[in-house]
Amino acid sequence: MFCKATLITTVALALLSSATPITRDEPSVATGSGIRVPLYKRGSLKNADGIFNYDKAVRELVKLKNKHRQNLINLERNVGRDAFPLGAEIKALASLPAHLLGNGKRGAVPLTDQRDDLEWTGPITIGTPGQNFTIDFDTGSSDLWVPVASCDSCKNHSLFDPTKSSTGQKVNGSFSIQYGDGSSASGDRYNDTVTVGGVAAKGQIFAAVSKESAAFTDDPSDGVLGLGFPALSNLNTSPFFFTALEQGAAPEGSFAFKLDQSGSELFIGGTNPSLYKGDIEYHNLTSTLSGFWQIGGASATVQGKQVASEFDTIIDSGSTIITAPPAAAAAFWGSVEGAKVFDKDEGLWSVPCDSFPEVAFSWGGKTWTISPEDFNAGQTEEGSKDCVGALAGSDLGLGNSTWLLGDTFMKSAYTVFSVDKRAVGFAQLA
Ligand SMILES: *[C@@H]1O[C@H](CO)[C@@H](O)[C@H](O)[C@H]1NC(C)=O
Ligand SMILES: *[C@@H]1O[C@H](CO)[C@@H](O)[C@H](O)[C@H]1NC(C)=O
Ligand SMILES: *[C@@H]1O[C@H](CO)[C@@H](O)[C@H](O)[C@H]1NC(C)=O
Ligand SMILES: *[C@@H]1O[C@H](CO)[C@@H](O)[C@H](O)[C@H]1NC(C)=O
Ligand SMILES: *[C@@H]1O[C@H](CO)[C@@H](O)[C@H](O)[C@H]1NC(C)=O
Ligand SMILES: *[C@@H]1O[C@H](CO)[C@@H](O)[C@H](O)[C@H]1NC(C)=O
Repeated sequence: MFCKATLITTVALALLSSATPITRDEPSVATGSGIRVPLYKRGSLKNADGIFNYDKAVRELVKLKNKHRQNLINLERNVGRDAFPLGAEIKALASLPAHLLGNGKRGAVPLTDQRDDLEWTGPITIGTPGQNFTIDFDTGSSDLWVPVASCDSCKNHSLFDPTKSSTGQKVNGSFSIQYGDGSSASGDRYNDTVTVGGVAAKGQIFAAVSKESAAFTDDPSDGVLGLGFPALSNLNTSPFFFTALEQGAAPEGSFAFKLDQSGSELFIGGTNPSLYKGDIEYHNLTSTLSGFWQIGGASATVQGKQVASEFDTIIDSGSTIITAPPAAAAAFWGSVEGAKVFDKDEGLWSVPCDSFPEVAFSWGGKTWTISPEDFNAGQTEEGSKDCVGALAGSDLGLGNSTWLLGDTFMKSAYTVFSVDKRAVGFAQLA
């Protein structure tokens, strides 16, 4: 059982400081008794000079396609095709355009800005004593992986050393994922204690990757912690949050994100009442089999006018650009005054920078509005009056009625993921 004395642990970013965790005893309250994990975002689609980072956006779109392709492969194996979102199909592996392969140096974009550092990262530990990792928290996948000490290509990251943990063991089986630039990451499986904030999952199965593609060398995160359901797990195992729940280590079966320029956090085991006001508007998952955080009955408006309705949405914290099926994206942009195609292949549109539309989503309750500033991914080029919109038409293989909403949307609401309710909730940010 979860101890009634509340453990509130504030973990400073591993790379920035090494503050001692603060613990204090106080009576547990129904909500608000979970653990705060500060998140840090290092990149955006907009360069410091306000110009759209095309290469970064393309990398993200390829990565998203291959991540969800892998999810469908895992889902088919774990549950069966019946669990697929409507119209979903496993596509060929997507690859980067030629100019981004290899070292991929094009134009004047510095190397560190070229990589897909678009994640929300935060700290975790693995093993006893705990080994620190900076992790990409991803509601759009379900596995935990970090690089292992013997990995020659992973040297720029924190590496897991199994020989230095008294609680870990190698377990049968392997792990392999593909990034879409022709290479893959693979490695062995281990089980060990995984701690996020103060929440510990014992015997958690994860992958310790011993080969990593060049694309990950200067990625700010060491690895990924998937917060999706077990059905999507490549390791076919209980993901961290589910293990923690089974073991009574998390006070409640939900977690929540606040994503913002600063003060972003992941709250594990409930919601943080100081970050939102009013009720949380919950929407049941479309399917409890699919493993995605997917909710239906969505509609989109541009300047208050409805431009799409009755579609499904997957809330994926591991993505930035909103992706809609190509036909839906074309219809969406067709209703935006002044919009024109920016890049046909990648499904990107531009709008005059000074007349960015107010875009909102609703699931039948409140309307959640994205600020035009968040929807604006930057000028098409230096001196241009046009800016790229953060909604792309992209076939992720998830069917022609499913949109993917990542942090561009999540910034507009406090977003709650409830395993107990099998629902996603939104509340007004405080
Ligand atoms: C891990 O991070 C914590 C908190 O930032 C710090 O106190 C500790 O020294 C770190 N451990 C190692 C091995 O770096
Ligand atoms: C692990 O694999 C080895 C050899 O393939 C086999 O002998 C052993 O029984 C397996 N262990 C488990 C727990 O499945
Ligand atoms: C870890 O894996 C080993 C080997 O399969 C197993 O014996 C052990 O029970 C596992 N530990 C936990 C805590 O699950
Ligand atoms: C390691 O990552 C940093 C950014 O986090 C980057 O500046 C540096 O070039 C990388 N080193 C190598 C060898 O790739
Ligand atoms: C949501 O699911 C719960 C059961 O988990 C059910 O009681 C409730 O009626 C559902 N709500 C809607 C609007 O379908
Ligand atoms: C979506 O796909 C189905 C078949 O899978 C097709 O019948 C339907 O017309 C498509 N809808 C759109 C808007 O493309």
